Amino acid sequence: VKEAFRGRDVISIRDFTRAEIDAILELADSFADRRDSSLASHVLGTLFFEPSTRTRLSFESAVSMLGGRYIGFHEPGATSVSKGESLRDTIRVVEGYCDVIVIRHPLEGAARFAAEVSSKPVINGGDGANQHPTQTLLDLYTMRRAKGELDGLRVAMVGDLRYGRTVHSLAEALTLYEDCTLDFVAPAPLSMPPHVLAALEARGAQFREMVTLDELDEVDVLYVTRIQRERFPDPVEYERVKSVFRLDRATLGERHADVVLMHPLPRVNEIAVELDDRPTSLYFQQAHNGVTIRKTLLALLLGVA
Ligand code: CP
Repeated sequence: VKEAFRGRDVISIRDFTRAEIDAILELADSFADRRDSSLASHVLGTLFFEPSTRTRLSFESAVSMLGGRYIGFHEPGATSVSKGESLRDTIRVVEGYCDVIVIRHPLEGAARFAAEVSSKPVINGGDGANQHPTQTLLDLYTMRRAKGELDGLRVAMVGDLRYGRTVHSLAEALTLYEDCTLDFVAPAPLSMPPHVLAALEARGAQFREMVTLDELDEVDVLYVTRIQRERFPDPVEYERVKSVFRLDRATLGERHADVVLMHPLPRVNEIAVELDDRPTSLYFQQAHNGVTIRKTLLALLLGVA
């Protein structure tokens, strides 16, 4: 199985079978505490055309813990992009400086385009409102560690389901597991896009849509997302929906008192700080698991797992 990952691109969660995802999650346990020199002489290129804390720093941490190095940028305005260099040319140049590339870009499809141009493996660190496959892997890893298995899970996704790429990838991934049920809780302007719902239907997913948390039955996991202000074409529309969900002890209530609470972060005001110390509030653990998953992926793609 490991050989199947060598040199591969990681662009969409749709490109992976359940067996492949399970293989990554199982291997990840052996990478949690791993620090060695298996990636010595390897270089990761990190091309971040959009802001990031977790994705960029956890990739940099992951390659460093395995003895590798990284180069890259997170302020495209300080690169030759500002002189008009095309994405194609940037990729053609950077592929000569590194062994694997992580790219985050505001345009949907940019990572797929980069992979087509590059002779080195490309990892999608988030492309617009489209996909964030490594976030999905760390989300699945976190859920599996918390609940024991992914089959049969009841997962509610809450917040900005329209522009939040993490929920698009995660919902599609969960359809690979038996008897998973998905609840989508969002105000109408932020509901799951029709093309994602169509893809879920085509995969035989069981899902329900609702607009308030009051309608939500007991679930195993509550996956909360930030309202993606930067993707709203109209700031007035953002102002209207920006505080539509705010979870605290009162809004969680008895029904969701013990629910596993996850969030890809950053949060703005969706989850009150008073919930941070609940044993099943896992969002910081989730972020930390990103290093484990990204170590595993880098080792697989570079053939040292
Ligand atoms: N979850 C996530 O992608 O966070 P960053 O935007 O900080 O990378």
